[in-house]
Amino acid sequence: MRKDIIHIGAGELHYEIQGMAEVANDLQRLGLSISRENIGDPVNKGQPLPQWLKMIVQEAVRCDETYGYCPTKGLLETREYLAAKVSSEARVAVHPDDILFMNGLGDAVGKIFGFLKRTARVLVPSPGYTTFTAAEAAHAGSPPTTYFLDPHRNWLPDLEDIENRIMYNQAVAGILIINPDNPTGMVWPRQLLQDVVGLAKKHDLFIICDEVYRNIVYNGRTNVSLAELIGDVPAIVMRSISKEMPWPGARCGWLEFYNADRDEGFRKYVDSIINAKMLEVCSTTLPQKVLPAILDHPEYRPFLAERVRLYEKNANLAHEAFKDIDGVMINRSDGTFYTTVVFEEGVINNAQTLTIKDQQARRYVEELVSAPMANDKRFAYYLLGGGGVCVVPLSSFTTGLQGFRMTLLETDEKKFCRITDTIKSAVLEYLA
Ligand SMILES: Cc1ncc(COP(=O)(O)O)c(C=O)c1O
Repeated sequence: MRKDIIHIGAGELHYEIQGMAEVANDLQRLGLSISRENIGDPVNKGQPLPQWLKMIVQEAVRCDETYGYCPTKGLLETREYLAAKVSSEARVAVHPDDILFMNGLGDAVGKIFGFLKRTARVLVPSPGYTTFTAAEAAHAGSPPTTYFLDPHRNWLPDLEDIENRIMYNQAVAGILIINPDNPTGMVWPRQLLQDVVGLAKKHDLFIICDEVYRNIVYNGRTNVSLAELIGDVPAIVMRSISKEMPWPGARCGWLEFYNADRDEGFRKYVDSIINAKMLEVCSTTLPQKVLPAILDHPEYRPFLAERVRLYEKNANLAHEAFKDIDGVMINRSDGTFYTTVVFEEGVINNAQTLTIKDQQARRYVEELVSAPMANDKRFAYYLLGGGGVCVVPLSSFTTGLQGFRMTLLETDEKKFCRITDTIKSAVLEYLA
Protein backbone atom coordinates (compact mmCIF):
# COMPACT_ATOMS: atom_id res chain seq x y z
CA MET A 1 0.00 0.00 0.00
CA ARG A 2 1.42 3.40 -0.84
CA LYS A 3 -0.05 4.64 2.42
CA ASP A 4 0.02 2.94 5.82
CA ILE A 5 -3.59 1.80 6.23
CA ILE A 6 -3.23 0.02 9.57
CA HIS A 7 -5.18 1.53 12.48
CA ILE A 8 -3.01 2.46 15.45
CA GLY A 9 -4.90 -0.02 17.62
CA ALA A 10 -5.03 -2.93 15.17
CA GLY A 11 -2.58 -4.97 17.24
CA GLU A 12 -4.79 -4.79 20.35
CA LEU A 13 -7.68 -6.83 18.96
CA HIS A 14 -7.59 -10.36 20.35
CA TYR A 15 -10.64 -12.39 21.39
CA GLU A 16 -9.37 -15.62 22.87
CA ILE A 17 -12.90 -16.84 23.70
CA GLN A 18 -13.39 -17.48 19.96
CA GLY A 19 -9.70 -18.32 19.42
CA MET A 20 -10.12 -21.33 21.74
CA ALA A 21 -13.32 -22.28 19.89
CA GLU A 22 -11.38 -22.53 16.61
CA VAL A 23 -8.85 -24.90 18.17
CA ALA A 24 -11.77 -26.89 19.61
CA ASN A 25 -13.29 -27.13 16.12
CA ASP A 26 -10.02 -28.50 14.72
CA LEU A 27 -9.83 -31.13 17.45
CA GLN A 28 -13.47 -32.04 16.90
CA ARG A 29 -12.70 -32.60 13.22
CA LEU A 30 -9.99 -35.03 14.37
CA GLY A 31 -12.72 -36.99 16.15
CA LEU A 32 -12.52 -35.65 19.72
CA SER A 33 -15.69 -34.89 21.66
CA ILE A 34 -15.45 -31.42 23.22
CA SER A 35 -17.33 -29.77 26.12
CA ARG A 36 -17.46 -26.09 25.31
CA GLU A 37 -17.03 -24.15 28.53
CA ASN A 38 -15.50 -21.16 26.82
CA ILE A 39 -18.42 -19.05 25.65
CA GLY A 40 -21.30 -17.50 27.60
CA ASP A 41 -24.17 -18.60 25.39
CA PRO A 42 -26.87 -20.37 27.46
CA VAL A 43 -28.81 -21.36 24.32
CA ASN A 44 -25.89 -23.16 22.69
CA LYS A 45 -25.29 -24.92 26.01
CA GLY A 46 -28.75 -26.48 25.85
CA GLN A 47 -30.93 -23.98 27.76
CA PRO A 48 -34.46 -24.68 26.44
CA LEU A 49 -36.49 -21.57 25.66
CA PRO A 50 -40.02 -21.68 27.04
CA GLN A 51 -43.02 -22.02 24.76
CA TRP A 52 -44.68 -18.80 26.01
CA LEU A 53 -41.60 -16.81 24.99
CA LYS A 54 -41.60 -18.34 21.51
CA MET A 55 -45.32 -17.57 21.21
CA ILE A 56 -44.68 -13.87 21.90
CA VAL A 57 -42.01 -13.85 19.20
CA GLN A 58 -44.30 -15.73 16.80
CA GLU A 59 -47.03 -13.11 17.29
CA ALA A 60 -44.57 -10.35 16.43
CA VAL A 61 -43.32 -12.22 13.39
CA ARG A 62 -46.89 -12.22 12.01
CA CYS A 63 -46.98 -8.37 11.90
CA ASP A 64 -45.62 -6.66 8.78
CA GLU A 65 -44.20 -3.74 10.77
CA THR A 66 -41.76 -6.08 12.50
CA TYR A 67 -39.93 -6.28 9.18
CA GLY A 68 -39.42 -2.50 8.82
CA TYR A 69 -36.80 -0.12 10.12
CA CYS A 70 -37.47 1.17 13.60
CA PRO A 71 -36.54 4.65 14.83
CA THR A 72 -32.77 4.83 15.18
CA LYS A 73 -32.78 5.20 18.94
CA GLY A 74 -35.11 2.24 19.17
CA LEU A 75 -38.90 1.78 19.29
CA LEU A 76 -40.37 4.61 21.35
CA GLU A 77 -42.78 2.38 23.28
CA THR A 78 -39.93 0.10 24.33
CA ARG A 79 -37.73 3.02 25.37
CA GLU A 80 -40.68 4.46 27.32
CA TYR A 81 -41.15 1.10 29.01
CA LEU A 82 -37.45 0.86 29.98
CA ALA A 83 -37.18 4.49 31.08
CA ALA A 84 -40.18 4.08 33.38
CA LYS A 85 -38.65 0.88 34.82
CA VAL A 86 -35.28 2.51 35.61
CA SER A 87 -36.87 5.69 36.97
CA SER A 88 -39.11 3.69 39.31
CA GLU A 89 -36.16 1.67 40.69
CA ALA A 90 -33.66 4.48 40.92
CA ARG A 91 -32.84 7.91 42.16
CA VAL A 92 -32.09 9.15 38.68
CA ALA A 93 -34.75 10.33 36.24
CA VAL A 94 -34.35 8.61 32.89
CA HIS A 95 -36.19 9.91 29.84
CA PRO A 96 -36.90 7.68 26.80
CA ASP A 97 -34.45 9.89 24.88
CA ASP A 98 -31.72 8.84 27.31
CA ILE A 99 -32.00 5.30 25.95
CA LEU A 100 -30.29 4.16 22.79
CA PHE A 101 -30.68 0.70 21.31
CA MET A 102 -27.65 -1.03 19.82
CA ASN A 103 -27.01 -4.21 17.89
CA GLY A 104 -25.92 -5.93 21.09
CA LEU A 105 -23.42 -4.57 23.57
CA GLY A 106 -20.57 -5.52 21.26
CA ASP A 107 -21.82 -2.74 18.96
CA ALA A 108 -22.19 -0.44 21.96
CA VAL A 109 -18.60 -1.01 23.11
CA GLY A 110 -17.39 -0.19 19.59
CA LYS A 111 -19.29 3.11 19.61
CA ILE A 112 -18.33 4.06 23.18
CA PHE A 113 -14.62 3.72 22.49
CA GLY A 114 -14.82 4.63 18.80
CA PHE A 115 -16.10 8.12 19.64
CA LEU A 116 -14.02 8.78 22.72
CA LYS A 117 -11.14 11.18 22.12
CA ARG A 118 -8.02 9.10 21.53
CA THR A 119 -6.09 10.70 24.39
CA ALA A 120 -8.92 10.18 26.91
CA ARG A 121 -8.60 6.88 28.73
CA VAL A 122 -11.07 4.69 30.62
CA LEU A 123 -9.82 2.64 33.58
CA VAL A 124 -10.93 -0.93 32.91
CA PRO A 125 -10.82 -3.86 35.34
CA SER A 126 -8.01 -6.42 35.13
CA PRO A 127 -8.82 -9.22 34.63
CA GLY A 128 -11.38 -7.67 32.32
CA TYR A 129 -13.88 -8.77 29.70
CA THR A 130 -11.92 -8.80 26.45
CA THR A 131 -14.32 -6.76 24.32
CA PHE A 132 -13.78 -3.76 26.64
CA THR A 133 -10.07 -4.11 27.25
CA ALA A 134 -9.36 -4.62 23.54
CA ALA A 135 -11.60 -1.72 22.49
CA GLU A 136 -10.08 0.63 25.10
CA ALA A 137 -6.58 -0.30 23.97
CA ALA A 138 -7.43 -0.09 20.28
CA HIS A 139 -8.98 3.37 20.62
CA ALA A 140 -5.81 4.69 22.26
CA GLY A 141 -3.32 2.59 20.27
CA SER A 142 -1.60 1.41 23.43
CA PRO A 143 -2.19 -1.20 26.15
CA PRO A 144 -5.37 -0.67 28.22
CA THR A 145 -5.35 1.41 31.40
CA THR A 146 -6.43 -0.94 34.13
CA TYR A 147 -7.26 -1.33 37.80
CA PHE A 148 -6.67 -4.57 39.62
CA LEU A 149 -9.33 -7.03 40.73
CA ASP A 150 -7.58 -8.91 43.50
CA PRO A 151 -8.10 -12.69 43.67
CA HIS A 152 -6.87 -12.58 47.29
CA ARG A 153 -9.69 -10.17 48.22
CA ASN A 154 -12.53 -12.10 46.59
CA TRP A 155 -11.78 -10.24 43.35
CA LEU A 156 -12.60 -6.87 44.91
CA PRO A 157 -10.53 -3.89 43.81
CA ASP A 158 -8.72 -1.63 46.25
CA LEU A 159 -10.21 1.86 46.30
CA GLU A 160 -6.90 3.54 47.08
CA ASP A 161 -5.29 1.77 44.14
CA ILE A 162 -8.06 3.03 41.84
CA GLU A 163 -7.65 6.57 43.15
CA ASN A 164 -3.88 6.45 42.63
CA ARG A 165 -4.37 5.32 39.06
CA ILE A 166 -6.72 8.26 38.51
CA MET A 167 -4.42 10.80 40.17
CA TYR A 168 -1.21 9.70 38.49
CA ASN A 169 -2.65 9.46 35.00
CA GLN A 170 -4.31 12.69 33.94
CA ALA A 171 -5.52 11.02 30.73
CA VAL A 172 -8.08 9.02 32.75
CA ALA A 173 -11.55 10.38 31.96
CA GLY A 174 -13.76 7.46 32.97
CA ILE A 175 -14.02 4.22 34.95
CA LEU A 176 -15.57 1.00 33.73
CA ILE A 177 -17.43 -1.23 36.17
CA ILE A 178 -18.77 -4.63 35.15
CA ASN A 179 -21.35 -5.66 37.71
CA PRO A 180 -21.71 -8.62 38.15
CA ASP A 181 -18.26 -9.14 36.72
CA ASN A 182 -17.08 -11.26 33.84
CA PRO A 183 -14.72 -13.21 34.08
CA THR A 184 -14.54 -13.32 37.90
CA GLY A 185 -18.20 -13.82 38.92
CA MET A 186 -17.72 -11.07 41.54
CA VAL A 187 -20.70 -8.92 42.56
CA TRP A 188 -19.84 -5.35 43.53
CA PRO A 189 -20.83 -4.56 47.15
CA ARG A 190 -23.03 -1.47 47.51
CA GLN A 191 -20.47 0.49 49.54
CA LEU A 192 -17.63 -0.12 47.09
CA LEU A 193 -19.84 0.91 44.19
CA GLN A 194 -20.85 4.02 46.11
CA ASP A 195 -17.16 4.77 46.80
CA VAL A 196 -16.23 4.50 43.12
CA VAL A 197 -19.09 6.84 42.24
CA GLY A 198 -17.60 9.16 44.89
CA LEU A 199 -14.19 8.97 43.19
CA ALA A 200 -15.76 9.79 39.84
CA LYS A 201 -17.46 12.83 41.37
CA LYS A 202 -14.31 13.97 43.18
CA HIS A 203 -12.11 13.70 40.09
CA ASP A 204 -14.71 14.81 37.53
CA LEU A 205 -14.90 11.52 35.64
CA PHE A 206 -17.73 9.61 34.00
CA ILE A 207 -18.70 6.01 34.70
CA ILE A 208 -19.49 3.21 32.31
CA CYS A 209 -21.32 0.35 34.00
CA ASP A 210 -22.00 -2.92 32.22
CA GLU A 211 -25.05 -4.52 33.84
CA VAL A 212 -25.60 -7.28 31.32
CA TYR A 213 -25.66 -9.87 34.17
CA ARG A 214 -27.60 -7.62 36.53
CA ASN A 215 -30.30 -10.16 37.37
CA ILE A 216 -27.98 -13.15 37.46
CA VAL A 217 -26.93 -12.92 41.11
CA TYR A 218 -27.08 -15.66 43.74
CA ASN A 219 -25.59 -17.09 46.96
CA GLY A 220 -27.67 -14.62 48.95
CA ARG A 221 -26.17 -11.57 47.27
CA THR A 222 -28.30 -8.73 45.96
CA ASN A 223 -27.17 -6.70 43.05
CA VAL A 224 -27.16 -2.95 43.31
CA SER A 225 -27.73 -1.11 40.06
CA LEU A 226 -25.73 2.00 39.31
CA ALA A 227 -28.97 3.95 38.92
CA GLU A 228 -29.61 3.53 42.66
CA LEU A 229 -26.57 5.53 43.72
CA ILE A 230 -25.27 7.48 40.76
CA GLY A 231 -26.50 10.84 42.11
CA ASP A 232 -25.46 13.56 39.67
CA VAL A 233 -22.40 11.82 38.17
CA PRO A 234 -22.49 11.38 34.38
CA ALA A 235 -22.74 7.73 33.43
CA ILE A 236 -23.53 5.21 30.73
CA VAL A 237 -25.20 1.98 31.77
CA MET A 238 -25.18 -0.96 29.39
CA ARG A 239 -27.94 -3.56 29.33
CA SER A 240 -28.81 -6.38 26.95
CA ILE A 241 -31.15 -9.30 26.47
CA SER A 242 -28.30 -11.64 25.49
CA LYS A 243 -27.69 -13.27 28.84
CA GLU A 244 -30.85 -12.73 30.78
CA MET A 245 -33.62 -13.60 28.35
CA PRO A 246 -31.48 -15.40 27.04
CA TRP A 247 -31.34 -14.36 23.40
CA PRO A 248 -27.76 -13.54 22.35
CA GLY A 249 -28.56 -14.14 18.69
CA ALA A 250 -31.04 -11.21 18.69
CA ARG A 251 -28.11 -8.74 18.88
CA CYS A 252 -30.14 -6.40 21.03
CA GLY A 253 -28.71 -4.26 23.82
CA TRP A 254 -29.14 -0.67 24.92
CA LEU A 255 -27.39 2.21 26.60
CA GLU A 256 -28.93 4.31 29.36
CA PHE A 257 -27.37 7.77 29.70
CA TYR A 258 -27.55 9.26 33.21
CA ASN A 259 -26.98 12.95 33.93
CA ALA A 260 -26.01 13.67 30.35
CA ASP A 261 -26.93 17.32 30.76
CA ARG A 262 -24.84 17.87 33.87
CA ASP A 263 -21.65 18.31 31.90
CA GLU A 264 -21.20 19.94 28.52
CA GLY A 265 -18.32 17.69 27.43
CA PHE A 266 -20.19 14.54 28.45
CA ARG A 267 -23.34 15.76 26.62
CA LYS A 268 -21.32 16.22 23.40
CA TYR A 269 -19.74 12.80 23.81
CA VAL A 270 -23.16 11.17 24.33
CA ASP A 271 -24.52 13.04 21.30
CA SER A 272 -21.64 11.76 19.17
CA ILE A 273 -22.54 8.18 20.15
CA ILE A 274 -26.22 8.84 19.30
CA ASN A 275 -25.31 10.51 16.00
CA ALA A 276 -23.01 7.65 15.08
CA LYS A 277 -25.92 5.25 15.60
CA MET A 278 -28.15 7.56 13.51
CA LEU A 279 -25.80 7.05 10.56
CA GLU A 280 -26.66 3.35 10.65
CA VAL A 281 -30.40 4.06 10.30
CA CYS A 282 -31.63 1.74 13.07
CA SER A 283 -31.04 -1.32 15.21
CA THR A 284 -32.86 -4.65 15.42
CA THR A 285 -36.67 -4.22 15.43
CA LEU A 286 -37.99 -7.69 16.39
CA PRO A 287 -36.37 -8.11 19.83
CA GLN A 288 -37.27 -4.52 20.79
CA LYS A 289 -40.86 -5.15 19.82
CA VAL A 290 -41.24 -8.20 22.05
CA LEU A 291 -39.06 -7.06 24.96
CA PRO A 292 -41.80 -5.54 27.20
CA ALA A 293 -44.19 -8.46 26.68
CA ILE A 294 -41.47 -10.97 27.58
CA LEU A 295 -40.23 -9.11 30.67
CA ASP A 296 -43.82 -8.59 31.90
CA HIS A 297 -44.95 -12.17 31.27
CA PRO A 298 -45.93 -13.87 34.57
CA GLU A 299 -43.62 -16.79 33.73
CA TYR A 300 -40.55 -14.60 33.09
CA ARG A 301 -39.40 -14.17 36.71
CA PRO A 302 -39.85 -17.87 37.61
CA PHE A 303 -38.00 -18.86 34.40
CA LEU A 304 -35.10 -16.56 35.26
CA ALA A 305 -35.10 -17.64 38.92
CA GLU A 306 -34.80 -21.28 37.90
CA ARG A 307 -31.84 -20.50 35.66
CA VAL A 308 -30.18 -18.48 38.41
CA ARG A 309 -30.56 -21.47 40.76
CA LEU A 310 -28.75 -23.61 38.19
CA TYR A 311 -25.81 -21.17 38.01
CA GLU A 312 -25.70 -20.96 41.80
CA LYS A 313 -25.57 -24.75 42.08
CA ASN A 314 -22.83 -25.00 39.45
CA ALA A 315 -20.86 -22.12 41.03
CA ASN A 316 -20.86 -23.98 44.35
CA LEU A 317 -20.00 -27.34 42.74
CA ALA A 318 -17.05 -25.72 40.93
CA HIS A 319 -15.92 -24.00 44.12
CA GLU A 320 -16.01 -27.33 45.98
CA ALA A 321 -14.09 -29.04 43.18
CA PHE A 322 -11.17 -26.58 43.07
CA LYS A 323 -10.94 -24.97 46.49
CA ASP A 324 -8.61 -27.51 48.11
CA ILE A 325 -6.18 -28.14 45.29
CA ASP A 326 -2.61 -27.08 46.10
CA GLY A 327 -1.32 -24.53 43.63
CA VAL A 328 -4.67 -23.10 42.54
CA MET A 329 -7.21 -20.77 44.07
CA ILE A 330 -10.85 -20.09 43.37
CA ASN A 331 -13.31 -17.52 44.70
CA ARG A 332 -16.90 -18.67 44.70
CA SER A 333 -18.86 -16.89 41.99
CA ASP A 334 -21.87 -14.94 43.26
CA GLY A 335 -23.12 -13.76 39.87
CA THR A 336 -22.85 -14.30 36.09
CA PHE A 337 -22.39 -17.79 34.69
CA TYR A 338 -18.60 -18.00 34.84
CA THR A 339 -16.04 -18.97 37.39
CA THR A 340 -12.32 -18.34 37.32
CA VAL A 341 -9.57 -20.55 38.68
CA VAL A 342 -6.15 -18.98 39.29
CA PHE A 343 -2.81 -20.79 39.24
CA GLU A 344 -0.64 -19.55 42.08
CA GLU A 345 2.48 -17.75 41.04
CA GLY A 346 5.20 -19.96 39.62
CA VAL A 347 3.25 -23.25 39.60
CA ILE A 348 2.90 -23.48 35.84
CA ASN A 349 5.68 -23.25 33.30
CA ASN A 350 6.29 -23.98 29.63
CA ALA A 351 7.47 -27.55 30.10
CA GLN A 352 4.44 -29.22 31.75
CA THR A 353 2.31 -31.60 29.73
CA LEU A 354 -0.82 -33.73 29.93
CA THR A 355 -1.43 -37.18 28.57
CA ILE A 356 -3.26 -37.02 25.23
CA LYS A 357 -4.28 -40.53 24.23
CA ASP A 358 -5.40 -39.69 20.69
CA GLN A 359 -2.19 -39.57 18.63
CA GLN A 360 -3.43 -37.08 16.04
CA ALA A 361 -4.74 -34.75 18.74
CA ARG A 362 -1.44 -35.06 20.64
CA ARG A 363 0.58 -34.09 17.56
CA TYR A 364 -1.79 -31.19 16.86
CA VAL A 365 -1.52 -29.82 20.43
CA GLU A 366 2.25 -30.33 20.56
CA GLU A 367 2.58 -28.36 17.34
CA LEU A 368 0.46 -25.55 18.81
CA VAL A 369 2.35 -25.31 22.08
CA SER A 370 5.73 -25.27 20.31
CA ALA A 371 5.05 -21.56 19.63
CA PRO A 372 5.79 -19.06 22.42
CA MET A 373 2.64 -18.48 24.48
CA ALA A 374 1.36 -17.76 27.98
CA ASN A 375 1.70 -20.75 30.30
CA ASP A 376 -2.04 -20.85 31.02
CA LYS A 377 -2.83 -20.92 27.30
CA ARG A 378 -0.53 -23.92 27.00
CA PHE A 379 -2.51 -25.57 29.82
CA ALA A 380 -5.80 -24.74 28.08
CA TYR A 381 -4.57 -26.38 24.84
CA TYR A 382 -3.48 -29.52 26.71
CA LEU A 383 -6.81 -29.62 28.52
CA LEU A 384 -8.60 -29.45 25.18
CA GLY A 385 -6.54 -32.24 23.63
CA GLY A 386 -6.26 -34.45 26.72
CA GLY A 387 -9.56 -33.79 28.49
CA GLY A 388 -11.81 -32.52 25.70
CA VAL A 389 -12.80 -29.43 27.72
CA CYS A 390 -12.59 -25.96 26.22
CA VAL A 391 -11.88 -23.14 28.70
CA VAL A 392 -10.42 -19.67 28.23
CA PRO A 393 -6.92 -18.85 29.53
CA LEU A 394 -7.14 -16.16 32.21
CA SER A 395 -4.15 -14.27 30.76
CA SER A 396 -6.31 -13.45 27.72
CA PHE A 397 -8.44 -11.21 29.99
CA THR A 398 -5.72 -8.54 30.21
CA THR A 399 -4.02 -9.75 33.35
CA GLY A 400 -0.66 -11.05 34.44
CA LEU A 401 -2.53 -13.70 36.45
CA GLN A 402 -2.50 -17.25 35.11
CA GLY A 403 -5.53 -19.50 35.22
CA PHE A 404 -8.70 -20.16 33.30
CA ARG A 405 -12.34 -19.15 33.06
CA MET A 406 -15.04 -21.76 32.62
CA THR A 407 -18.79 -21.39 32.20
CA LEU A 408 -21.44 -22.57 34.69
CA LEU A 409 -24.06 -23.13 32.02
CA GLU A 410 -24.28 -26.91 31.85
CA THR A 411 -27.88 -27.92 32.58
CA ASP A 412 -27.12 -31.59 33.36
CA GLU A 413 -25.63 -31.88 36.85
CA LYS A 414 -23.90 -35.21 36.20
CA LYS A 415 -22.30 -33.81 33.08
CA PHE A 416 -21.21 -30.66 34.92
CA CYS A 417 -19.56 -32.79 37.63
CA ARG A 418 -17.82 -34.87 34.94
CA ILE A 419 -16.50 -31.66 33.40
CA THR A 420 -15.17 -30.28 36.71
CA ASP A 421 -13.66 -33.72 37.54
CA THR A 422 -11.91 -33.77 34.17
CA ILE A 423 -10.48 -30.30 34.69
CA LYS A 424 -9.49 -31.13 38.27
CA SER A 425 -7.64 -34.30 37.17
CA ALA A 426 -5.95 -32.31 34.42
CA VAL A 427 -4.79 -29.64 36.90
CA LEU A 428 -3.46 -32.30 39.27
CA GLU A 429 -1.59 -34.11 36.50
CA TYR A 430 -0.26 -30.86 35.05
CA LEU A 431 1.06 -29.63 38.40
CA ALA A 432 2.41 -33.02 39.59
C1 LIG B 1 -19.72 -8.24 30.50
C2 LIG B 1 -20.26 -8.43 29.11
N1 LIG B 1 -20.72 -7.38 28.43
C3 LIG B 1 -21.22 -7.51 27.19
C4 LIG B 1 -21.26 -8.73 26.56
C5 LIG B 1 -21.79 -8.82 25.16
O1 LIG B 1 -23.17 -8.68 25.15
P1 LIG B 1 -24.00 -8.67 23.77
O2 LIG B 1 -24.34 -10.08 23.43
O3 LIG B 1 -25.17 -7.83 24.08
O4 LIG B 1 -23.10 -8.05 22.73
C6 LIG B 1 -20.78 -9.86 27.23
C7 LIG B 1 -20.76 -11.18 26.57
O5 LIG B 1 -20.27 -12.15 27.05
C8 LIG B 1 -20.28 -9.71 28.54
O6 LIG B 1 -19.81 -10.75 29.23
